[in-house]
Amino acid sequence: MTTPTPTDNNIVWHQATVSRQDRATLRGHGSVILWFTGLSGSGKSTMANGVNGELHRRGVAGYVLDGDNVRHGLCRDLGFTDADRVENIRRIGEVAKLFLDAGIITLTAFVSPFQTDRDRARSLVPPGDFLEIYCAADLATCEQRDPKGLYANARAGRIKHFTGLDSPYEPPRSPELVIRTGDLSLQEGIDQVLNALEQRRLIPSLPA
Ligand code: ADX
Repeated sequence: MTTPTPTDNNIVWHQATVSRQDRATLRGHGSVILWFTGLSGSGKSTMANGVNGELHRRGVAGYVLDGDNVRHGLCRDLGFTDADRVENIRRIGEVAKLFLDAGIITLTAFVSPFQTDRDRARSLVPPGDFLEIYCAADLATCEQRDPKGLYANARAGRIKHFTGLDSPYEPPRSPELVIRTGDLSLQEGIDQVLNALEQRRLIPSLPA
């Protein structure tokens, strides 16, 4: 079966009256997709929420799209086969693109194990609007943390296709940022991301 294109379905793009630039001017900051990727337990959600908390304190609009949460709703029909993960990331790429247009600093926290899928999400938006952030903690560290007890369950054979065990993880080839979440404190990681946003003038710098 082939997927119908919008043209097949007589769907025409409707031009919005308020632009992304209008929203940026109103809010006083830009928007971007911060795409956190890494093994389960590598600190993606913790990092994304920590950064978002700091943005909020600074009056910057941010929103975290989190794998575990999105799988309760939008992606509740998907599991963890390769095909389902591809579809999961395709949907999140499209949602993140909408949030970007809405003028929001969009933080996605998904394992997103495949480079091709991350590249596809990147290709949906203009260059510079997608920053790939690798939460780099090795498998042993993640497994030792095991915040949800999932590695133990996977080792016991109760979870199949677990990333890092019997399902692959492809580390980013050229991420904009690598955060050594196994070695750094949470605050150090958060500061790394905020600095990257300030350097790109996406958010105002704090007065010295
Ligand atoms: S992704 O591969 O499609 O990007 P996603 O980030 O949405 O994955 O979901 C991963 C989360 O689901 C993990 O943080 C973990 O809590 C949970 N999970 C449950 N089963 C698996 C599995 N087989 N592999 C990886 N994560 C799993």
